[in-house]
Amino acid sequence: MVRRLTVALAAGILTAIAATAAVAQADVVKERQTLLKQFGDATKPVGGMLRGSVPFDLAQVQAALDLYVKDAKVLPTLFPAGSGSGSDTDALPAIWTNTADFDARFAKLGTDAASARAAITDEASFKANFPGVIRNCGGCHDNYRQKN
Ligand code: HEC
Repeated sequence: MVRRLTVALAAGILTAIAATAAVAQADVVKERQTLLKQFGDATKPVGGMLRGSVPFDLAQVQAALDLYVKDAKVLPTLFPAGSGSGSDTDALPAIWTNTADFDARFAKLGTDAASARAAITDEASFKANFPGVIRNCGGCHDNYRQKN
């Protein structure tokens, strides 16, 4: 009787732990998607500036680059092993078989953004230096993000 109670208790605790892990995983997926969505929101008007459909705005360009620099450091920590399936994520399994490459791509985005931040002072330097930064986005998506 006591033993059965202990087993039941242990099972209950395990279920609780599993539930906590599932919640933590859903949180981490949501967290990275929020940061990446902010990347998208910051990049959209700047893409318009590149195409000439939106007037050049240095402050907005700098804000986008600052955001890339800041969150490129955080994002690699938001793809823990096991967070690739089960939840609503577009992350591909290749992330967890090529983790070094995946993390290096975020690092490169960060260093490229920091260089561009220093180099861009006007529209001409923006047009020369910004495209190389956002090439990092598509480069990673091609390999590691599910196309919808
Ligand atoms: C090192 C890889 C990598 C880099 C670099 C990267 N992304 Fe992504 N991005 C991903 C992955 C993986 C997902 C899918 C995440 C998920 O659903 O869990 C994603 C998802 C997104 C999303 C969808 C977010 C949502 O609402 O769910 C947007 C928007 C986005 N990225 C924009 C960008 C932009 C803009 C850049 C460049 C400034 C960028 N990303 C750079 C890997 C990357």
